[in-house]
Amino acid sequence: MPTQRLSRRRFLQAAGLTVAGTTLACSGLGYVATRTPGIEYPEITLQGGEPMNNRILVTYATRAGSTAEIAAAIAETLAARGYAVDVKPVKEKPSLDGYTAVVLGSAIRMGNWLPEAVDFVKANQAALNAIPVALFTVHMLNTGDDEASRAARAAYLKTIRPLLPDAGAVYFEGKMDFARLSFLDRFIARMVKAVEADNRDWDKIKLWANTLEV
Ligand SMILES: Cc1cc2nc3c(=O)[nH]c(=O)nc-3n(C[C@H](O)[C@H](O)[C@H](O)COP(=O)(O)O)c2cc1C
Repeated sequence: MPTQRLSRRRFLQAAGLTVAGTTLACSGLGYVATRTPGIEYPEITLQGGEPMNNRILVTYATRAGSTAEIAAAIAETLAARGYAVDVKPVKEKPSLDGYTAVVLGSAIRMGNWLPEAVDFVKANQAALNAIPVALFTVHMLNTGDDEASRAARAAYLKTIRPLLPDAGAVYFEGKMDFARLSFLDRFIARMVKAVEADNRDWDKIKLWANTLEV
């Protein structure tokens, strides 16, 4: 019957699309779609000014680099206060041995901290709860002072907050730079009509690092 032939053809088309999508995801093309162009993951060691027993780890998760640059600015401010500071990408799974405090930051993607930052917290939950921890979240939306924006920002920590109930938290506006996005992220950014902007407030970032109790 014609109706059956039509639906069978449609089914085959849909099946073809699904296979093509799965093939893309599993193949090198899927890798290309999610690969971020030329992003650096800085690792920095700063000695601090005076002899101090405190050694701070500043670790971060980024896709397009803006969170890494904020991590470096935080580390420089802490070092200027005299602390010894190491900056490391969280994807390297840094050890917490020898650190007296941790500053941990993540970019937001689709309402969530990046998975490598969440995994790091899960893997080190007990050790992190035994020392001072400060969280910084880097995002572009929900930046207002109204109740709804504050609630939406708090929701960015929905997986982290139950694991680290005592950690301090701050939210920094980030940067949207299409040239630093993977094909897939650029596609999503264009779909939601995101605009390019660098909204990082370096004074706010440095002030926070200057007043951080570590
Ligand atoms: C695909 C995509 C999804 C994003 N989703 C959110 C989001 O849900 N909420 C938000 O506030 N910002 C969102 N952003 C903005 C990023 O958090 C912001 O650009 C941040 O500075 C990126 O940090 P990075 O440069 O370290 O990767 C998104 C950006 C991209 C490209």
